[in-house]
Amino acid sequence: MALTDLAETEVLRIPQDFPPGPLFTIPPILATLRDDRPLCPVVMPSGNRLWLVTRYADVRLVMHDPRFSRDLVFAGAPRMAGDDLTSVEGSLFNMEGDDHAHLRSVLGAYFTRRTADGWRVTTERHAHDLVDRLERAGPAGSVDLVTSFSEPLVARFATELMGIDNDEHARAQVQIRRQLDLSGTPEQIRAATAAVAALAEELVDRADGHTPGRSGGPVGTLAQAAREGTISRREAVGTTGLLLMNVTDPLVPPLTVGTMTLLLHDDQLAACRRDPRLWPEAAREVLRYHNNGITNFPRVALEDIDLHGIRVSKGEGVITSTLAAAHDPREFADPGVFDLRRTEKGSVFFGAGTHFCLGSVLAQVVVATAYAVLFARLPGLRLAVAPHTVEKADDSFFACPATLPVTW
Ligand code: HEM
Repeated sequence: MALTDLAETEVLRIPQDFPPGPLFTIPPILATLRDDRPLCPVVMPSGNRLWLVTRYADVRLVMHDPRFSRDLVFAGAPRMAGDDLTSVEGSLFNMEGDDHAHLRSVLGAYFTRRTADGWRVTTERHAHDLVDRLERAGPAGSVDLVTSFSEPLVARFATELMGIDNDEHARAQVQIRRQLDLSGTPEQIRAATAAVAALAEELVDRADGHTPGRSGGPVGTLAQAAREGTISRREAVGTTGLLLMNVTDPLVPPLTVGTMTLLLHDDQLAACRRDPRLWPEAAREVLRYHNNGITNFPRVALEDIDLHGIRVSKGEGVITSTLAAAHDPREFADPGVFDLRRTEKGSVFFGAGTHFCLGSVLAQVVVATAYAVLFARLPGLRLAVAPHTVEKADDSFFACPATLPVTW
């Protein structure tokens, strides 16, 4: 049975049929699908029908198996809502095979453990500065953690990493949110993708003119490789656009909803405060528990593939949910329990296989360092409102509070 033959009643709609659980937890329907419909037809806002994969083992299979391709740079490719970052030529994210491996090794030269350690120091400095400001303003009433800590911290990270100023970051953020907005029209999404590409082009030009050697951050690394001819200019620009997305939005939710979840788990928070070596565990558990977004971006089947007795036909789109996988009881004991001492090592929440997140170590360092500074400096930090009244940001692809009123 092809996806197109299915009756409308058999197909779930993303995002309407996937409301989140309480306190920004995983949409309960994902657990039902994982048990009863491990390969479930869904319709995206683009109108495309895709197979949704929710089990840990299946998500890893799709991400490892080269018969499922991330190269969606062709007309009519499966899309979320429109021609978003998956339509961009030259982006690492959208490539496969040797070209992908080569570009990844070039960019990987920046994303080392040593670089991530350097970011620990930088993040500490920025987090202390932001808390200084909070303290100067004083806890008169309440303060919004999103606008006074999570977003400015991520903005400082993004501007330094990408070599952009605050205005450019603000512009990028608006366009990237439009690109990822599941309620956006195809025209809005296409225009946002073009705007991100234009900024990426500017950044590569700038790095080309001014950054000698490989010390100029990831954009400098890409620009230099393009200059030397080991990658194409299109790859440098496409991948810079991808990085703009990665540094802008995915870090704000764990800093915000993660802080809220830690505040709701006093005993675990107290354990981290007593032993700061636990902050990286806290970051990992937040990223598992609240893993970004209902789904990841689509892939396309390059040939007919049978899974759970269902045929995924060549050309059909498949979409994984690392959120569902990170809550699969086949892999994680009591997955609905927030437990930073859990020992399972599965890290599917950063993907798997050849497209495994290049920034995973860096992201964990930034999140863990931010928690360490915030909770050490403000020992009385607490929510200023009842947790159930905290609302989701409308324009966010991720499960992120619009505002998080706190006091201390
Ligand atoms: C908490 C934050 C983050 C999460 C949860 C996350 C998650 C992911 C996931 C799941 C993928 C694989 C998607 C797929 O195969 O379909 C991915 C890819 C990627 N991520 Fe991250 N990411 C985060 C932050 C970052 C940061 C901060 C950077 C860089 C500064 C980054 C750079 C990348 C890159 C370059 C890829 C593409 C790799 C490739 O296609 O070979 N990510 N990320």
